[in-house]
Parts: sequence; structure tokens; C-alpha cells
Amino acid sequence: MRTILAAVDQSHHAHDVMSRAAELAVLLRNDLVVLSVVSSDPMKQFNIVEEQNRLASFHRELIFKHFPDNSLAVEPHGGNGGVYRYGTAGVRVQSRIISGNVVDKICECAEEVNADIVIVGSRGLGNIGSLVLGSVSERVVHKCPRSVLVVKGGLESPDWQGLSTGQKSGASRV
Ligand SMILES: Nc1ncnc2c1ncn2[C@@H]1O[C@H](COP(=O)(O)OP(=O)(O)OP(=O)(O)O)[C@@H](O)[C@H]1O
Ligand SMILES: [Mg+2]
Repeated sequence: MRTILAAVDQSHHAHDVMSRAAELAVLLRNDLVVLSVVSSDPMKQFNIVEEQNRLASFHRELIFKHFPDNSLAVEPHGGNGGVYRYGTAGVRVQSRIISGNVVDKICECAEEVNADIVIVGSRGLGNIGSLVLGSVSERVVHKCPRSVLVVKGGLESPDWQGLSTGQKSGASRV
């Protein structure tokens, strides 16, 4: 089974990343790992445990939004995050929250899970609006030896499901 790694911060761009990641995971019948890294930068002042809890519920919200919840089973697991099984396609969805250097941890996780594709958003929580790419996505593209898909938000998403079933594009979304 191949694996897609979707890296998300807590910005609205996470929905663009998850939407694409869920579509591809179902279409390709790949496992999906949803990753957020809590920065270990000492300049970022926050309570790490609180931040991890916030991210855990954000991941749950993302997963239930982008996979229809009547086909989503929660699997028992230990540690941070959670594991879900998306019924009809048998896709395993894992939520992971780790701390450390954001770019390094995304690249390390890609190796660890042997990710076939790493998906990041073009922008995140940062607010330097004039840049096309944020610093994390840019550095992941440079550093990670795997294929990286940079999702740009705001465009209407193509109907991947329709492609897999030969149906005409419609309102159905993953
Ligand atoms: N802490 C993180 N954990 C996981 N993925 C992240 C994290 N931060 C950013 N990303 C990924 O990188 C994408 C782009 O975010 P990035 O941080 O590069 O842009 P930005 O916040 O707009 O700019 P910057 O942080 O450089 O000010 C996000 O949509 C997400 O996919
Ligand atoms: Mg950022």
C-alpha cells in the first residue's frame, strides 16, 4: 500500500491540502498520514501540550470534513493523534502530531512512512501575502527527495472520483 503524506498547519489552507489529499487517497487507494509539526523554535511561545491538543482536534475536524463520516471508523491506537479507516476504499488515515523543526520533521516523516507524494499548501499561517510560496513549502520542495505537491487554494477542485469511475464531473466530493 502506498502512502500520501499531507502536512497541515492550523490555517484555512489546511482544508485545500486535505481536500486534495483525501481525493487522491481514495482515488489511488493509498494510505494517508496527516502531519502537523509543533515548532520547537524557542521564539514561538506557547504551551506544547495545549498546542498538541488543539492540533489533535483540528485533525479530527479535517478528517471528518474531508472523508464522509458515515464511512469512517475510528481505530484503537496509542499515543498522539488518531487512526481512522475509510470504509469503502479501505484507506487508512493516520493523524500525527510531532514537535521539532518543521521542515526537518516533514522530510523525516516522509522517509519514515515511505511517502509516495508529500502534499503541502502554498501558504500557511504566515501573513506575508506578497510571497507565492511560504518558507515551509519552499524548503520542503528543496529538501525532500520525494515528489512534493504544492496545493494552491482558491481554484475549483477537479473531480478525481469522476475520473476513477468514468462518471461525468458532478457535485460529488470526497
Ligand atoms: N507546522 C507545520 N506543520 C505541518 N505542515 C506545515 C507547518 N507549517 C507549514 N506547513 C505546511 O506548509 C504549507 C505552507 O506554509 P508556510 O509556513 O510555508 O507558509 P506561510 O505560513 O504563509 O509562510 P511563513 O511561515 O514562511 O511565514 C502549509 O499549508 C502546510 O502544508
Ligand atoms: Mg507558516
